[in-house]
Amino acid sequence: MNDKKKIITGLAIFLFLFTLPIWYNLVSATSAPEPELSAKAKAAKTCVRSKEYMVAEHMQLLDVWRDTVVRTGERTYTNPDGKQFNMSLSTGENSCIGCHVSKADFCDKCHNYASVNPYCWDCHIDPKEKK
Ligand code: HEC
Ligand code: HEC
Ligand code: HEC
Repeated sequence: MNDKKKIITGLAIFLFLFTLPIWYNLVSATSAPEPELSAKAKAAKTCVRSKEYMVAEHMQLLDVWRDTVVRTGERTYTNPDGKQFNMSLSTGENSCIGCHVSKADFCDKCHNYASVNPYCWDCHIDPKEKK
């Protein structure tokens, strides 16, 4: 009978230790930060494409923009709704940073959380340098 108690206690301790990482994560997990929409973006209401598309594909879209500008010289992007945007990573009107005015409050919020560090701003002007 005594053995049975020991086995149960042992099992309980084992289960606790074995699942410790799960408990730890439950307690310590922080939720992803909300990227801050600028007043300009709020006024515009919509992004270049749907929010779902932007979250998943903004890197590819930027690559397409870069290739189009550099290879063809065309600088205007027309989305499926017929709205036009300035294909630029700089602060120009109707461009990514032109609307999401703060790279730090918007782009970086996500990138820091996801530990991605796009090298684009090695060359492109980080908008914080202007005012
Ligand atoms: C004219 C303003 C405007 C421009 C230009 C613009 N955006 Fe947006 N963006 C918005 C708005 C408004 C939202 C929120 C959309 C929503 O909630 O449906 C948004 C949402 C996003 C999101 C999703 C954010 C989240 O909360 O998950 C990403 C990522 C994003 N934009 C990146 C970009 C990039 C990269 C560019 C340039 C290629 C760009 N945006 C250009 C206005 C803009
Ligand atoms: C909703 C969160 C979110 C927002 C907001 C956001 N990004 Fe990102 N971005 C990501 C994630 C996550 C990755 C990495 C994706 C991957 O590697 O597949 C990424 C990757 C990128 C990359 C590719 C980096 C590389 O080295 O391949 C570029 C370029 C980029 N983001 C630009 C921007 C710009 C510019 C903005 C602001 C206008 C922005 N992002 C806003 C989440 C976000
Ligand atoms: C080695 C320097 C360098 C790096 C790194 C770089 N670019 Fe560029 N990019 C340029 C130059 C130069 C142009 C041409 C400027 C022009 O014609 O207006 C350009 C043009 C662009 C354009 C179109 C014009 C404009 O005003 O923005 C986009 C969009 C762009 N790059 C996106 C990116 C993205 C996204 C990344 C990171 C994944 C990136 N670039 C990294 C140098 C660079």
